[in-house]
Amino acid sequence: MDNIRPVPDFLPALEAAALLPGKGETVLLAGKRIAVFNVDGQFYALDDDCPHRGGPLGPGWVEAGKYTVACPLHGWEFDLKTGACLTVPARPVRAYPVRVVEGKVEVGIE
Ligand code: FES
Repeated sequence: MDNIRPVPDFLPALEAAALLPGKGETVLLAGKRIAVFNVDGQFYALDDDCPHRGGPLGPGWVEAGKYTVACPLHGWEFDLKTGACLTVPARPVRAYPVRVVEGKVEVGIE
């Protein structure tokens, strides 16, 4: 039974219309700070805490064509789809599943 993965609970994070394309925002969900991003109408969610020195990724710089966000403190870049760190590959952040239901962006938290 060890191979059974938990199903995430999708929690409402924010109104989809409130997060403009190319922007990110930090929300608090289940006691965690989660950074939610809009790239051309597709939404992504990462842990908000940058693994370098804890900078908030929500207000980071979104690069729409690359699907990345750069930490606003020192510029480490992260892949919005996977959470991979492009600057220091050994220091990724967690990426969360996202869906939009009735105009609300929901993030899957296990
Ligand atoms: S705290 Fe994010 S790059 Fe330094």
